Amino acid sequence: KTYDVAVVGATGAVGEVMLSILEERNFPVGNVYALASKRSAGKRIAFKGGSIKVEDLAEFDFSKAQIGLFSAGAGISAEYAPKAAAAGCVVIDNTSQFRYDDEIPLVVPEVNPDKIADYKKHGIIANPNCSTIQMLVALKPIYDAVGIDRINVSTYQAVSGSGKEAMEELASQTAALLNGKPVKAEAYPKQIAFNVLPQIDVFMDNGYTKEEMKMVWETRKIFGDETIRVNPTAVRVPVFYGHSEAIHIETKAKISAEKVRELLLNAPGVTVLDDRVDGGYPTAVTESSGKDDVFVGRIREDISHAQGIDLWVVGDNVRKGAALNSVQIAEELVKNYI
Ligand code: A2P
Repeated sequence: KTYDVAVVGATGAVGEVMLSILEERNFPVGNVYALASKRSAGKRIAFKGGSIKVEDLAEFDFSKAQIGLFSAGAGISAEYAPKAAAAGCVVIDNTSQFRYDDEIPLVVPEVNPDKIADYKKHGIIANPNCSTIQMLVALKPIYDAVGIDRINVSTYQAVSGSGKEAMEELASQTAALLNGKPVKAEAYPKQIAFNVLPQIDVFMDNGYTKEEMKMVWETRKIFGDETIRVNPTAVRVPVFYGHSEAIHIETKAKISAEKVRELLLNAPGVTVLDDRVDGGYPTAVTESSGKDDVFVGRIREDISHAQGIDLWVVGDNVRKGAALNSVQIAEELVKNYI
């Protein structure tokens, strides 16, 4: 059996990788529709040794697809996801549009796959924020073993999370600066090349940014635990692919670093790289970029807290943080539900 799949935002940073992951994982696709704005209609994108023609989203008849992978921004999802769902196309939405709706499941397949069943209510499943996904894949085994009271996390996020324009801005600013030329900041409020920006998404009334609050809201929803406390600082760094996170947790019961290492060695979707020698840890560029797993290193007991554990977690934000997680949801969906 095969499924006809529409990729919305197929020309974007995430959409392109969605197509290549469908191909790599041999997802049972029938027809694949690559949808983008009118500007891109008629372009061709490579798929399975051939190419497919990009079509204008506004003109597409969603009754032709059983699954829609959406990654063209929240506004586009707000308008088109309900239309697609009404036409019988189950939407897996990579934007923040539906994540905080109680009736729409928010899913990381390694953490809460059973929630996929709730897609029936609205025909939409939400894919979480990239930073939340990699954090929860790494924390799930610890959460299940001893409980987690509080998470303190600082992120070091790649520019690919902001889309293609931002990637071009990092490249062009870097080249300009190396040639002694001045730079213009357009995609970000300040220069991103050779710099670090403590702002991702807009500011909220409480002084946190929206990216930080996404990690708070989404962690509670995915763990199904309104009591878990999360304190994030989200930072943009001049890296193209791969988000890094310094995570400090306070567990409900004491757990040793050794036990955490053992749990993570057996956890789905996780690779442990934790040797206490020079370079014995994962990094965004060297290990995670282009890979499916979330990498964990620097596992240690917090010397300032009796029930504290520290971890360094790295993941490819465009793959596990977006496209791969969406395709894994689609795999569960076709295996168990449609
Ligand atoms: P297009 O390339 O035609 O602009 P990124 O996250 O890398 O910026 O990519 C955004 C994706 O969303 C692109 O595929 C882009 O298509 C698509 N997109 C943006 N605006 C629209 C729109 N109004 N209708 C359909 N697709 C859109």
